[in-house]
Amino acid sequence: MKQFLHVSDIGDLKAALAEARQVKAAPFANQELGKNKTAIFIFFNSSLRTRLSSQKAALNLGMNAIVLNVGADSWKLETEMGVIMDGDKPEHLREAIPVIGSYCDIIGVRSFARFESREFDYGETILKQFIEYSGKPVISLESATVHPCQAFADLITIDEYWQKKASSKKRPKVVLTWAPHPNALPQAVPNSFAEWMNAADVDFVITQPEGYELAPEFVGNAQVEYDQMKAFEGADFIYAKNWSSYKAYGKVLSKDRNWTVSARQMAVTDNAYFMHCLPVRRNMIVADEVIDSPQSIVIPEAANRVVSAQVVLKRMLESL
Ligand code: CP
Repeated sequence: MKQFLHVSDIGDLKAALAEARQVKAAPFANQELGKNKTAIFIFFNSSLRTRLSSQKAALNLGMNAIVLNVGADSWKLETEMGVIMDGDKPEHLREAIPVIGSYCDIIGVRSFARFESREFDYGETILKQFIEYSGKPVISLESATVHPCQAFADLITIDEYWQKKASSKKRPKVVLTWAPHPNALPQAVPNSFAEWMNAADVDFVITQPEGYELAPEFVGNAQVEYDQMKAFEGADFIYAKNWSSYKAYGKVLSKDRNWTVSARQMAVTDNAYFMHCLPVRRNMIVADEVIDSPQSIVIPEAANRVVSAQVVLKRMLESL
């Protein structure tokens, strides 16, 4: 595997889930694979889970893991081509990327959407420079439009809890619901969740207020339902997330707290599990009564971030 951005990069999902189960059961079984290999994880933005789970996954595989916080630990990096560098950024990505590539075997990059231009963000302009100029396999650790390590961990979690539920249904009903937030957040998490659920063996529904439709390439064949209560009926998994508008790019069109996931909506589900990628704003995205309930699986979901990262790193090591 040379890059990890999309569900297509992981190949067959059943095989990926089987590998995830193996990795989870025996996390230190492949320590020889990572011996004398180095991963560098580069963060242009803050993180708790992605930073720690990526490092932990690399260590489980016997790798060296280095984290670089751009701007705090390094020079500020210029990302635009053709600019006169007379501002506060003393180094250009064009030099920094091949230098970083010369120090490691695998690179992970976190670089959020900037909301200055939809074309710049949806072109994955920063991540693609790492792919082009580093000469090393590159993982999106949440880039402008996708968060594949999160979506893979989400799928692993749904697979685990669906087996526990032992339902008579053939496949689970999974609902992605928009929920309110005070700030403009990227679409990367819902984009990837939608992409992965469309590829998985689930009945997938997206619910959001008018104006919050995701990009068509990520909505795919999902059922779109504007009535949140109707969408929740009979659901097995509720995945809550805020995102800003794709159409009115990066804009907050609503902060309607009727969309906050509470016991009222959960009551019409099929005793659904509640999921969120974290960090989560309590009583904006989800009411305390839901996130503190036994149906909340946000912590095991976050724990599975180590598993998804480890499968991806393992496959990249195998293809070096
Ligand atoms: N879910 C997630 O990516 O968390 P962090 O932003 O803390 O890494």
